[in-house]
Amino acid sequence: MTSLKIALAKGRLLDDSIKLLESIGYDLRAVKETRKLVIDDGAHNVRYLLAKPMDVPIYVEYGAADVGIVGQDALRESGVNVYEPAVLGYGNCRLMVAGKPEYKTMEWRLLTGLRIATQYPRVAKQYFSARGLSAEIIEVYGSVELAPAVGLADLIVDVVDTGSTLKANGLIELDEIFRSQATLIVNRASHTLKVDEVRTLIEKIENVMRET
Ligand code: PRP
Repeated sequence: MTSLKIALAKGRLLDDSIKLLESIGYDLRAVKETRKLVIDDGAHNVRYLLAKPMDVPIYVEYGAADVGIVGQDALRESGVNVYEPAVLGYGNCRLMVAGKPEYKTMEWRLLTGLRIATQYPRVAKQYFSARGLSAEIIEVYGSVELAPAVGLADLIVDVVDTGSTLKANGLIELDEIFRSQATLIVNRASHTLKVDEVRTLIEKIENVMRET
């Protein structure tokens, strides 16, 4: 019987999430070897669900997964109501406002009618409306750095890790919105109904993080 369903974000967090769960003794060989999206680790009564990062909070909020490992960037964007009992110390990046270098010397925060391309419309809306700016948010599904280059947008709100994508596309950092790292999230009902399983998982993760 599967006792705990864990949603893992595919993409840049996945390798480190696998390493973390392997370090607490779970078996994720099948996760690495298959393109299946539902994988059972029968020996530990765990089922892994592999989802797009932006979808992991939704699977957890609706209880399709009890627990999820996802970046705080996707978590903030989703706006879901879940527990967040542990940050995991990897997947560090920053949510940034970025644009062409000429904006560096401009009072861009005072401009109205800016067009902002982003995969984070909720975060971007909050950022600009908190400053009383009537920016137009244009949602794109990736390669956000393209938008200022071809005149689709004035600025972007996107994740920056090494900064090389910004640099390669002639953009610079203008303002940091928040820092993000991988985080453990837990469905509110599972937190109560599966308290032992969830607590055991959290304790194992905390122990291994203390040791490293
Ligand atoms: C992310 C993000 C940036 C890039 C930043 O894109 O959207 O484009 O990584 O990383 P860097 O600062 O190390 O260059 P990702 O590669 O995940 O693909 P996407 O553009 O389709 O989202």
